[in-house]
Amino acid sequence: MAILNVNGKRITVEVDDSTPLLWVLREQLGLTGTKYSCGIGVCGSCTVLVDGVPRRSCIVPAASVVDAEITTIEGLDPQGRHPVQVAWNEEDVPQCGYCQ
Ligand code: FES
Repeated sequence: MAILNVNGKRITVEVDDSTPLLWVLREQLGLTGTKYSCGIGVCGSCTVLVDGVPRRSCIVPAASVVDAEITTIEGLDPQGRHPVQVAWNEEDVPQCGYCQ
């Protein structure tokens, strides 16, 4: 068990040492704006901000970011008005995320 700081909230999650952050975000927290594509850190569709730095969540163990501020696309603006969120919706980017 670990406590993560995600989109401004402290959330308790179940993780082991190897659980990728991506799966915690998607499967435990329901933040499906973070996409899975290659799974090997190449494509960038799983990118989130960790302390303001873009990181590929498919290769970042969740246990390694317990003290960090994690921001997903949903967290940029809960109302969905951040320019990136608006652009994604206009261009239908959220479908698979590969082009994001
Ligand atoms: Fe491709 Fe993470 S899913 S970099």
